[in-house]
Amino acid sequence: MKQFELAVIPGDGIGKEVVPAALDVLRTIAEVHGGLKFKFVEFPWGCDYYVEHGKMMPDDGLQILQGFDAIFLGAIGNPHLVPDHISLWGLLLKIRREFEQVINIRPAKYFRGLQSPLANPNDFDLIVVRENSEGEYSEVGGRIYRGSDEIAIQNAVFTRKGTERAMRYAFELSKKRRKHVTSATKSNGIFHTMPFWDEVFAEVKQDYPEVETASYHIDAMAAFFVTRPHMFDVIVASNLFGDILTDLGGAIMGSIGIAPAANINLNGKYPSMFEPVHGSAPDIYGKGIANPIGQIWTAKMMLDHFGEEELGSVLLKIVEDVTADGIKTPDIGGKATTREVTDEICRRLKKLV
Ligand SMILES: NC(=O)c1ccc[n+]([C@@H]2O[C@H](COP(=O)([O-])OP(=O)(O)OC[C@H]3O[C@@H](n4cnc5c(N)ncnc54)[C@H](O)[C@@H]3O)[C@@H](O)[C@H]2O)c1
Repeated sequence: MKQFELAVIPGDGIGKEVVPAALDVLRTIAEVHGGLKFKFVEFPWGCDYYVEHGKMMPDDGLQILQGFDAIFLGAIGNPHLVPDHISLWGLLLKIRREFEQVINIRPAKYFRGLQSPLANPNDFDLIVVRENSEGEYSEVGGRIYRGSDEIAIQNAVFTRKGTERAMRYAFELSKKRRKHVTSATKSNGIFHTMPFWDEVFAEVKQDYPEVETASYHIDAMAAFFVTRPHMFDVIVASNLFGDILTDLGGAIMGSIGIAPAANINLNGKYPSMFEPVHGSAPDIYGKGIANPIGQIWTAKMMLDHFGEEELGSVLLKIVEDVTADGIKTPDIGGKATTREVTDEICRRLKKLV
């Protein structure tokens, strides 16, 4: 019997609705599988916790989380209670940084039953591997003077280690998919870091002769996401480029409510964290209509991470079937509640045995 211990942080807003839904799905999977068990330990950290304790999580929060196999997170943020920069840096970004979750992966695909805003979505199925620890999001730089002489300098930091590991991750991932990796660059405009990025890409690809490659400037690539996203399989991108591309990926799928993400620790010292792309959606919290698919797809990515890829694929197919059969929440044009969608997914999972 394989057992996985999960630290569960529902967080704020609809995180408290979609996380229980995804846990029900994971419980059902364990029941159907027979050889798999999950132990969930829930932590009430987030903005309500902040109001009571003056911090987003306890001082030893990271030590508590360290021993788990993975962290399963809902959403963080309640701007009415805590300013966003405090809630984000006090929990989510703290975990990502301290736990060396150096890779962020976000898939985007044509989802059956969902209206893509693209005129010709053409069955696209791509995944963005985003460098998650350095690049353009560095704290190096500064500001001097005020008024008309004011200067702001922001340095991008690209290390060989960080760049190479993101690229190798992308190549390894592509071997399980359609064996194609595209590099997002901008070496025609960015003078130092992007030619370096291209050089490292050219070196790394030598080690993967079975994988086809391409390289596009980020501006052209953003346009291709709209005009022909089916041309991409795995994309490797720097922190900023990956950030922008993944939002675009969510948008061309048709709803932010279904988009999943994973923050991966590669050195095995700390757990990885799985969370949907969406936030706490205060505008719909409490109505019972939050789309649980982003959180459930996130659970699928966690299953992949645990080596249960077949199980993950079965789950995603069932979620797509349920959507295609019209059992969907209002954000994607349906009338179903969070509970109804979840129950239907669980019912179909149970039919597998
Ligand atoms: N990773 C995270 O925890 C994360 C990500 C983004 C935003 N936030 C935080 O969430 C709070 C709200 O931010 P926001 O409104 O800009 O973004 P949001 O993602 O919470 O909501 C944007 C819009 O999408 C809708 N939406 C989002 N998820 C949905 C779902 N599962 N089902 C149906 N509709 C859904 C919302 O109703 C809203 O109209 C802020 O405090 C923000 O900082 C957190």
